Amino acid sequence: MIKTVQIKDLKPGMYVIIPGSWMNHSFTLNQFLLKNTSQIKKMREDGMLEVQVDFAKSNINADSLADKLQVEDLPHPAKPKEVEPPALWTPENLVPVELVEAIEDKKIDPLTKAKAVYKHSLVMMSRLLDSPTAENIHTGKDAIKSITNLILSDDATAYNMLRITSHDFYTYTHSVNVGVTAIMLAKELFRHSDSHDLGELGAGFFLHDLGKINIDSKIINKPARLNEEEMYEIRKHPYQGYKILKDADALSEECKYIVLQHHELNDGTGYPKRLQGDEIHVYGRICCLADVFDALTAERSYKQSLPRFDALKLMRDEMENHFSRELLNSFIMLFK
Ligand SMILES: [Fe+2]
Ligand SMILES: [Fe+2]
Repeated sequence: MIKTVQIKDLKPGMYVIIPGSWMNHSFTLNQFLLKNTSQIKKMREDGMLEVQVDFAKSNINADSLADKLQVEDLPHPAKPKEVEPPALWTPENLVPVELVEAIEDKKIDPLTKAKAVYKHSLVMMSRLLDSPTAENIHTGKDAIKSITNLILSDDATAYNMLRITSHDFYTYTHSVNVGVTAIMLAKELFRHSDSHDLGELGAGFFLHDLGKINIDSKIINKPARLNEEEMYEIRKHPYQGYKILKDADALSEECKYIVLQHHELNDGTGYPKRLQGDEIHVYGRICCLADVFDALTAERSYKQSLPRFDALKLMRDEMENHFSRELLNSFIMLFK
C-alpha cells in the first residue's frame, strides 16, 4: 500500500519513495527505509514537500497513522501522470514549439536548456509512440536530428542532459534516455571519423523500442517480472520496430540494425537471433549498453533502481560477457 505523505508527517521506520529525478535530492537511493529524523530534516532542506510511503515495506502500520495523516491513496504502482490528452498527432502538431525554441535559444544557461530540451523531447516521443504513422516518424526524425546536433555541438548542455534523465514506467522516457546516452557514446567513439551519420544514428537510438507499440500494453507495463510466455511476446519488438521503420522508409539500413540488434549480447545470449561478437553491428552494441544502463537505473515496482555508479559497476563486474570490453570502458568513461 503506497500513500503520499507530507514531509512533516514522516516518521523513522517508514519506507519512503522519492518521486522524480535523482538530481533533485541529495540521497543515494530513491527508495529506502527512514532510519532517523536527520534524514527527514535533509528532505526538508532539499525542498521536498511530500514523498510516497510504501507501508508494506515500512515498520509502521498505515492504519495506526491514518487519522493523523493527510494522505491520498494511490494504486500500486503510483498512478502514471497524464502527459497529453488523447489526440491524433500529425506532422503539424507532433513537435512541441517549445522544443524547437529551447534547441535554438542561445541565451539560456546549459542546465536550463538541457531541462527544457529533455522535457519537450519526452512530450514529442510520447506523441510519436501514440501515433507512429510514416509521416510522423519522418517529422519526428527531423526533430531528433536537431536534438542530436545540439548534443554534438554543445558539450555543456549535452552533459547536463545526461545528468538529468528521470525514470518512470514509460517507453517514451526510456527512449529519450537511451537516445541521449547512446548519442553521447557515439560522439566519443566516432569523433575522429566522418564516416558515420550521427543524425541518422540519433534517430535510430531514440526509436530503438518503436516495436513495443505492437506488443500488448499489459505486458509492456506489467508491474512485475515477465513470465516465459510474456518474454516470448517482448522478444518480438526488435523485429516489429525494424519492420515499421522499413515500411516507413525512415532510416538507413545500417541504422535499422540499431532497432533489430539492440538486445543481442556479445556472448550470444541475447535476442532475437542470438548473434555473437562481431556479428552484432557496432550501432546495435552502443544502443545495447545505453539500454541496459537505463533499465538498471530505472525504478520498477518489482525492483529497486540502482544508483548510476552501482549500475556501471554491475555492468563491468557481472555482465562483462554481454558487452565488448572496449565499448563498455568507453561507456563508463562518459560518467567520469
Ligand atoms: Fe528494447
Ligand atoms: Fe530499450
